[in-house]
Amino acid sequence: MSPTSDSHNRPADAEKKLEEAGVSSEDLAVRRAALTQVRQFGDPVLRSDTRPIEVFDENVKAQAERMIRLMDEAFGIGLAAPQIGVSNRLLVYRVGDTPPVVLANPEIEWSSEDSESFEEGCLSLANVQVDVDRPIHVRVTGQDAAGDRVRIEASGLNARVIQHEMDHLDGILILDRASKDQRKAALRGLREAEDQVGYAA
Ligand code: NI
Repeated sequence: MSPTSDSHNRPADAEKKLEEAGVSSEDLAVRRAALTQVRQFGDPVLRSDTRPIEVFDENVKAQAERMIRLMDEAFGIGLAAPQIGVSNRLLVYRVGDTPPVVLANPEIEWSSEDSESFEEGCLSLANVQVDVDRPIHVRVTGQDAAGDRVRIEASGLNARVIQHEMDHLDGILILDRASKDQRKAALRGLREAEDQVGYAA
């Protein structure tokens, strides 16, 4: 998941916002390089089935480390395995100035009836922001990078990013959770960006 903004539903230039926030041109170049390694909308891997992680070996640790690095370099707050082209059930997130969290095989154990709508972005959907309604509180079980069982209680943005990344593991994107109008506008923006920049997924 990429940071939310106040752009209100129109495609925004994420890089410009970071520049205005004081991010250096070197860090912006690193971000662009990281984003070339993040699968973009239209790539079938984002819609593919994912398999549970059964063996917690060095490969899992290396995958988690790579995901954390790309998330940080891209100024994201969460990343799921399909976004780096790997179809397994691993996600990472970091909200604010905290250590990153690695979560494998996550399951929602409980979610609150209270929900709220808030704008979300996604590193696989360049410059798209849509409002997504989600439960405010969740309790999630899963495993850490070593395979040890964990239970996480989260609220607010933490709960939101966990649910966003868990959606990725089921092939669900924020466009699927947006209103029809916002989805149409976002798809139009994605098509225009593709035409202008000429990049493809
Ligand atoms: Ni995302």
